[in-house]
Amino acid sequence: PKRTRIHHLAEMKQRGERWPMLTAYDRYAAEIFDEAGIPVLLVGDSAGNNVFGYDNTIPVTVDELMPLVKAVVGGAPNALVVADLPFGSYQVSPAQGLETGIRFMKEGGAHAVKLEGGARFAPHVEALAGSGIPVMAHIGFTPQHEHALGGFRIQGRGDAGDRLIEDALALQEAGAFAVVLEMVPADVAKRVTGELRIPTVGIGAGPDCDAQVLVWSDMAGMNRGRKPRFVKPYADLGSILLDAAKAYAADVRGGEYPDAEHSY
Ligand code: KIV
Ligand code: NA
Repeated sequence: PKRTRIHHLAEMKQRGERWPMLTAYDRYAAEIFDEAGIPVLLVGDSAGNNVFGYDNTIPVTVDELMPLVKAVVGGAPNALVVADLPFGSYQVSPAQGLETGIRFMKEGGAHAVKLEGGARFAPHVEALAGSGIPVMAHIGFTPQHEHALGGFRIQGRGDAGDRLIEDALALQEAGAFAVVLEMVPADVAKRVTGELRIPTVGIGAGPDCDAQVLVWSDMAGMNRGRKPRFVKPYADLGSILLDAAKAYAADVRGGEYPDAEHSY
């Protein structure tokens, strides 16, 4: 197997090749997405909603994400595995961010980390990137800032578009290898993508980013609740699993499982 490296992502931008990214939180998903040729897997703090059942990503801790990172790294022989830095694990200082990044590399086996925030976090990116930890930045709507941003709202409209570009440039300058643009107008994402040397990864950011990312449970219809407008479900896994569970339950109740074929 040939591991995706950050220089491959830079080369794809130069060649104008788009690439897909998905979250993964466990071994089976990692194996399947790696086999599907997804070059970058994110162990997102979206595990807060999608694995742990929290209302948002804010309560997620490093200790909660660590075993998920290990599981995904173990299941993905080819993908570049990015570990999300949870809320409170880097905001205090660049040194705190570096310590958290080191933990995800040493204990989790991650190949890179991701953190949320604009130019204020350039020193954090620099501390990590300068120490050998590739950093993916994340601007626009940043879920860890939900309460400061006043809920799930599109970012970078009007004058805020210029600030978004300044943030992106500052993060690139600090050494980020890519930047996620979440819920920003398509024309602003297009401008950022054109200005940056490093790839942009869009989620709700229109068609002109260098890459796209989705939460896998949204992408595959495992999450049957309300979805943001940018989500396109490519399967109805939730219904498939519901039907399987119902069929199993009926068989057990009816005495049809296990039959002779499934007994010793
Ligand atoms: O945690 C997450 O899933 C993310 C992506 C949606 C970018 O940060
Ligand atoms: Na995240």
